[in-house]
Amino acid sequence: MGYDLIIRGSTIVTASDTFVADIAVEKGRIAAVGHIHSADDVKTVNGRGLVAVPGGIDVHTHFDMPFMGATTADDFTSGSAAAIFGGTTTVIDFAIQKRGKPLQEALDTWHEKAEGKTAVDYAFHMIVVDLPEKGLKEMDRIVDQGVSTFKLFMAYPGIFMSDDATIFRALTRTKENGGMVCMHAENGGVIDVLVKKALAEGRIEPKYHALTRPMSAEAEATRRAIALAEIAGVPIYFVHLSAGDAMDEVRRARERALPVFAETCPQYLYLSYEDYERPGFEGAKFVMSPPLRPKGNEERLWKGLAQNWLQVVSTDHCSFCMKSGGGKPGKELGKKDFSKIPNGAPGVETRMLLLWDAVQKGRLSPNRFVEITATAPAKLFGLYPRKGHLGPGADADIVLIDPKKKHTISAKTHHARVDYNPYESRTVDGSIRHVFLRGKQMVDGDRLTGRPSEGRFLRRSPVSPN
Ligand code: URP
Ligand code: ZN
Ligand code: ZN
Repeated sequence: MGYDLIIRGSTIVTASDTFVADIAVEKGRIAAVGHIHSADDVKTVNGRGLVAVPGGIDVHTHFDMPFMGATTADDFTSGSAAAIFGGTTTVIDFAIQKRGKPLQEALDTWHEKAEGKTAVDYAFHMIVVDLPEKGLKEMDRIVDQGVSTFKLFMAYPGIFMSDDATIFRALTRTKENGGMVCMHAENGGVIDVLVKKALAEGRIEPKYHALTRPMSAEAEATRRAIALAEIAGVPIYFVHLSAGDAMDEVRRARERALPVFAETCPQYLYLSYEDYERPGFEGAKFVMSPPLRPKGNEERLWKGLAQNWLQVVSTDHCSFCMKSGGGKPGKELGKKDFSKIPNGAPGVETRMLLLWDAVQKGRLSPNRFVEITATAPAKLFGLYPRKGHLGPGADADIVLIDPKKKHTISAKTHHARVDYNPYESRTVDGSIRHVFLRGKQMVDGDRLTGRPSEGRFLRRSPVSPN
């Protein structure tokens, strides 16, 4: 019983239970949960009045990502610092295949970007851009290296978009290698036509980003991808689902007992199309794909989260500064043409806070909060039971939330390297008090107490959701 740490008396919340107890940590793992006796010299943290939840798992980040003529403001150092201050202890980032190049090259590049530079544990998905028949064996080798999920795009023609044959080949291969396809579902061909038409008519402002990417373009792609996965006989996971109509496709598939899963993101729950109509070029802050949807859509997504039509909330953290600087072009690249605004927005630091606020406001139960921020992500992405759970044997990734303290979100105080925050000046109920990564105290209030390079690569198991 050589405990290294005991957290006393917090209210422990798991995906299924809520109770007051102590947590003992030994060698980076949770050793016991209950009423714990120990020698006096064990480091003790007073958790009374605080809520203990498993460290957040954000399965959708883009750190150090080159995209649309820009590179994200956050690399692994600043992005993971933002994550840990926001109560997220694991991220899954996207390695990106270059067209015509091996998947392995992309994976090696992402290892280089991350190794020794992250404050949180991390894993990778692989973005597949092209997949000739001879590339299929390479997919298997990527799974063998602990990267068991592959993102494909039905949007961004000429950059990332795959045709149905490529998507079907990838889906079919996951049956053999235990991988899973994560789909960006928007009909890129239709969107391209709408974008060209809008620009030809002189419609250049940020709001046209949303007006040229209708809900039905997302719903159609979602329906088509579900059909392709059903023919292949494999699970499929939809990333950053934004539209209620797309969610209805997922719901209908699940009602037919198909293994179809989806995440949404806080921006689709808290922001809306109306943000594109902010004065001047401010709407560019919210240019992301899929876009924010009209007010009212968010109510459908909240219902979907409550009903388990949506299983996960991730962030799609993809931060571009508004202003260019330090050799990095910003969103102002698209001042005269909305289609040139780098797509993406920051979020890794605010996900847990925004969703905990929803708990305090009675929109989510505390257990559902844990499920969608940690337990379901761990299960779906081959990290469970090591991650996503507060119980003996799990990594001691623990977040203590002070439910009585308020937190005001601002670019002035956030830890991401980006020059704005989409939730500027919003005050939430609840504040992150302590964050532990494998038993090491990383955050104490507003201080980073752990090493910024504490994070380790996580080899994920092949995924077999059910
Ligand atoms: O606008 C977004 N979502 N940018 C990141 C790339 C992606 O599609 O996830
Ligand atoms: Zn995407
Ligand atoms: Zn993304």
